[in-house]
Amino acid sequence: MTKIAIFASGNGSNFEAVIRYFINSSIEFICVSDKKDAFVLKRAEKLNIKYFYVPFEQTYDFLLKNKFDLIVLAGYMRILPKKVLQLGKFINIHPSLLPEFKGKNAIERAFKSKVKNTGVTIHYVTEEVDSGEVIASKKIKLTPQMTLKELETKIHEIEHSLLPKTIEKLIRKYNILLIGSGAREHAFADKLLKSEYLNKLYLFGANDGFKDSGINLEAQNFEQLAQIARQNKIDFVLIGSETQLAQGIVDIFQKYAIPCIGSDKYWTQLESSKSFAKEFMKRNNIPCADYVIVQTEKDIKKIPFTYPYVIKADGLAAGKGVCIANNESEAKNIIKEYLNGKFKESSKKIVVEEFLAGEELSLISLWDGNTLKPFIPARDYKKLNPSINSPNTGGMGAVCPVETDKKLILDYTKILEKALRKEKAKFTGFIYSGLIITSEGIKVLEFNMRSGDPETQVLMLSLENDLVLLLKNTVEKNLKNTKLSFKKEKSICVVLASNGYPNTPETGNEITMPFSNDVNIYYAGVKKQKNKLYTAKGRVMSICNCGTDSINKVYDYVNKVEYKGKTFRSDIA
Ligand code: GAR
Repeated sequence: MTKIAIFASGNGSNFEAVIRYFINSSIEFICVSDKKDAFVLKRAEKLNIKYFYVPFEQTYDFLLKNKFDLIVLAGYMRILPKKVLQLGKFINIHPSLLPEFKGKNAIERAFKSKVKNTGVTIHYVTEEVDSGEVIASKKIKLTPQMTLKELETKIHEIEHSLLPKTIEKLIRKYNILLIGSGAREHAFADKLLKSEYLNKLYLFGANDGFKDSGINLEAQNFEQLAQIARQNKIDFVLIGSETQLAQGIVDIFQKYAIPCIGSDKYWTQLESSKSFAKEFMKRNNIPCADYVIVQTEKDIKKIPFTYPYVIKADGLAAGKGVCIANNESEAKNIIKEYLNGKFKESSKKIVVEEFLAGEELSLISLWDGNTLKPFIPARDYKKLNPSINSPNTGGMGAVCPVETDKKLILDYTKILEKALRKEKAKFTGFIYSGLIITSEGIKVLEFNMRSGDPETQVLMLSLENDLVLLLKNTVEKNLKNTKLSFKKEKSICVVLASNGYPNTPETGNEITMPFSNDVNIYYAGVKKQKNKLYTAKGRVMSICNCGTDSINKVYDYVNKVEYKGKTFRSDIA
């Protein structure tokens, strides 16, 4: 059961408003005052709510003995020390638009200052008076005719509605449906399960390695899945992979008014069509490599670039559709292969680009339809091995953070944010910018419309924010007020693959591995049979750790995993 303490020093009208709002809920409220004769205690008695007089000096001991999910300061006129604040989640209501008019008599001071607007703010509590991250606020226009009394009445009216609604939002728990089968989705599941805001985690398509992290749903198609999601009161859906996005899963869930973290079919084209992405970048002055479109073998003659140049399948190719041609014969071979259907329909159209030299980065951001919030830069290792001619894979490892000029990232984010706003991209979800830092500055290599795999594995271990809250703020279009924070230590991921990956992976080999607390293991291509684990796909699992000794811990464990054909890179991070 959810337990909430309301601290007040005086009148307690906010306390009463909260109690009346939640009158039929199962939440257990208590009232605490630092003043023995505070009117709020009388209100509590009348409303049949447990109440306590706790002298200020005894607050620490009181909260040590009594645990609460939330502590609400509603007219509690004391500054709590860090030691006390560490004992719970504290919010405060203040009768001004913070940071203006902190402290006592805020309404009167705002009134006398003849400001145009004042209002009410609810914020997390820090050791500083009326500071801390803002959770909710509401503005009131001050007209010349308004008296102080009228302003006070108006402010209290707003407080009595804003405070209970904000509490409701803060304590609500969410049902989430996670769609996808790989190690990326396993890492998402792991992070979601750590959230105090998670009610139930539902899974669709999970592999045998993380099926037991949630309730598994079965459906023949997305339409049916959306109906089942509706029946199960899913609050929002997190779609991991581009395949479902490109098939239009988000458009179907939108019909059922179920919010998604994922782009609709139109915007998924930023990933599913390289030419669509290029045109978007051109229209919005987003720096990228020059390009031409190739659709027949004859077009090769029209390619204006010197070797080496880059050949990309226009459509989706599971991260494997990019090749570099070093000379004419290589270019001809690759283009021929692509046009002949190496990636089926995806390579019937080809984008050829000038080659850019520089350091590559994966910048994964969340977009809420108006605000773009970048995560820390990460790096993935696309090639099967470090040699020049090695084939591209879905990703053999990742690391974050990658040291980068913060200003470059911020400037780039502003450009992309402006473009998405201008083009009215209304979806909410991840956008992955594959970036390269060239001598001419930052340029975009590609967009993906989901978080990367294996970047997600390292980012989820680094991310300090609660993932449920973060995604909720995204679907509620409230990223503007969200601050992201990440651990300073290195987070790394080494992918274990099957022999023959990426072309013809060998599967069905038994896996043996010891239990370990030192690493996080995220499964990708595994099958369970009679309690034994077998390889089932090209990429088998991700071995990850975030901490001071992450590289050694990960490689120590990588060496302990055994199966025939185990393939990995030894140079990650
Ligand atoms: C409220 O207006 C609240 O915003 C303010 O005290 C009043 C308490 O009224 N809090 C602060 O000024 C905090 N700095 P109430 O006791 O009737 O709820």
